[in-house]
Amino acid sequence: MQQTKVIAHRGSKGTHPENTLAAFQEALRVESDGIELDLHLTKDQQLVVIHDESVNRTTNGKGKVKDMTLYEIKQLDAGSSFSPAFKDEKIPSFQEVLDLLVKEDFKGLLNIELKTDHEPYPGIEEKVIQIMKQHKWLFQVVYSSFNYDSLIRMKERDYEAEIALLFEKSKGAQKKIGEKYTICMWHPKINWLKRVGLKTYPHQSMRPWTINSLSQMDYCFEQAMSGLITDYPELALKRRKKWQP
Ligand code: G3P
Ligand code: MG
Repeated sequence: MQQTKVIAHRGSKGTHPENTLAAFQEALRVESDGIELDLHLTKDQQLVVIHDESVNRTTNGKGKVKDMTLYEIKQLDAGSSFSPAFKDEKIPSFQEVLDLLVKEDFKGLLNIELKTDHEPYPGIEEKVIQIMKQHKWLFQVVYSSFNYDSLIRMKERDYEAEIALLFEKSKGAQKKIGEKYTICMWHPKINWLKRVGLKTYPHQSMRPWTINSLSQMDYCFEQAMSGLITDYPELALKRRKKWQP
């Protein structure tokens, strides 16, 4: 039976400010099998790690990432909205996160989500491919997105790239892409998976999100899914011992 990979969502989002170096450091400290992060592109074409299109929710600034330079983004406080204890945290560049993973000798799965479903960020796929050329041998990489055109662009540029389809509901496009590209994982919202069950899609390629309760963790471990994406990697890793010692 395969061991279910515990993938830290936006770092260890439940315990640290999401998508910051502190959150990724915590994911590494607890020895998460995988780390998920979200990518956007700044006005000066720099890849940055943040979940939303705008900086409003997670920082003390206002505005869209696409309208700000990396320098402007770097002035913002991305920690205090989570807790004053993280006041000095910044929005990291993609390169900074990669540097951290290399420095800490991370050997797990890096799940890079391309946030192209609201802002298309023309050229983002090529930038990611270029930057990952130097790193893809160091750890396993999977690219995910709600925008399947973006994933197809990744495959067109690097046929070996592993892609994962993000979704909340069933869509015909999922099947089509799954049939066309064999290296394909399913990253559904857990509510969808609970509703449809595991019959249509193989559990070996299933990694649902966001698995935060013990009962949802148990479901994923019991079914020996490929992975689960959680805000609480430390908790999930402890829980896994019960099912998959
Ligand atoms: O990759 C799983 C999850 O990150 C997808 O949703 O909105 O948290 O990026 P979101
Ligand atoms: Mg994400």
